[in-house]
Amino acid sequence: MTIIKLEKTLKINTAYCQQKNGCKNLSWKRIKYFLLFVFLLLSLSACDFIQKPDYETIEAIPSLWKEYKEHFPIGVAVNATTINTHSDLIEKHFLSITAENEMKPQTILPGYYTSDYLDRLNFTQGDRMIKYARENDKIVRGHVLVWHEQTPEWFFKDEKGEELSPEALLERMEEYIKAVVGRYKGQIYAWDVVNEVISDDSDEETYRTNSRWNQIFKGREIDYIEAAFRAAKEADPEAKLFYNDYGAVSPKKRAKIISMLEELIARGVPIDGMGIQGHWAFDGWPSKKDIEDSIIDYSNLGLDVQITELDIRKHTGEMFKDVTLSKADKKKQAEKYKEVFEIFIKHRDKISGVTFWGVTDDNSWIPQEPLIFDRNKNPKHAFWAILEALGE
Ligand code: G3I
Repeated sequence: MTIIKLEKTLKINTAYCQQKNGCKNLSWKRIKYFLLFVFLLLSLSACDFIQKPDYETIEAIPSLWKEYKEHFPIGVAVNATTINTHSDLIEKHFLSITAENEMKPQTILPGYYTSDYLDRLNFTQGDRMIKYARENDKIVRGHVLVWHEQTPEWFFKDEKGEELSPEALLERMEEYIKAVVGRYKGQIYAWDVVNEVISDDSDEETYRTNSRWNQIFKGREIDYIEAAFRAAKEADPEAKLFYNDYGAVSPKKRAKIISMLEELIARGVPIDGMGIQGHWAFDGWPSKKDIEDSIIDYSNLGLDVQITELDIRKHTGEMFKDVTLSKADKKKQAEKYKEVFEIFIKHRDKISGVTFWGVTDDNSWIPQEPLIFDRNKNPKHAFWAILEALGE
């Protein structure tokens, strides 16, 4: 109808032009083609906003992990909610799962100290993750044993509420690690043993200072890190053991991480891999060079490299600012995803896993739509870009 109306209007206008002899270059045919082109463009852009029924989409698109199976396992962080609400996507697109919070000390340890706390460890949530993995043929990354966050404050104190000595904390840490890793022996193929102990790029010191671990072990931080890896190895000799950190591709922080890893390796510590978290942004950071150099640098230490917590938000800074991505943003995000996956594929001999930190945009810890499925479970430009990176 609209087209017919437009045609009529144009005919009138052209006739008017011809009468007036003023629009000699205005050929009716060219205008018609131009209009058709505009109409097509408008229709195409409208398609972007049409939501297909979820199940139709989920069944029709290729499985991400299967497309990537020649290169490395593709994984995703899941939680007690998403294994129910998003199991369709998880089952189809990811081979590996990581529990987002369910295996952290805060979840497993009781809320307060008692001398028999080891008998009161709560594995309900963790066990559910393992059961889900078993029932759906997934492999599991364990996350996380030693971290300054999400560990109850009592863990660092004695029964009188006084700070533990390094020796007492070491003993507590070892018994905790052995209990957790031992429980899941043979069911978790890789553990993030120690997480985020190194200070940020801009800080002078090597170890972060806002960590109860580093405060208690000040000056000999490497000792508890070493002991953590040794305890995990003893509890499950087959599991791959990782150090995991964010900002791990920035040159200054990377140099600090590397010097810690070198020290561990020199001590003969059983460490298998480096987990680059990958909380990145598409407004520029990090550069291709930093990502690629990092994969090479960590691999040159003789370690496996995994991207353990990938998400690509809009802003490097202001990461908790709420953002709804525009169409242009979504394209930029897709380009960045494509760029990083091209790097991963190029270095697939060094990479043994890539895990997204969440399934759909609405269950990400960052409110900037940083994942590859939108809140309606539809694949975003980023999803298709990652398939395009395969170049087939
Ligand atoms: O479980 C409580 C709930 O009982 C309470 O009502 C609610 C109120 O805020 O909080 C819930 O706990 C939240 C928890 O996630 C579970 O949803 C915490 O507040 C919240 O801080 C916590 O955030 C997690 C964060 O780690 C903690 O630092 C995120 O979900 C999780 O994605 C994030 O994951 C970390 C990795 O472990 C390590 N690398 C960085 C990454 C992103 O921060």
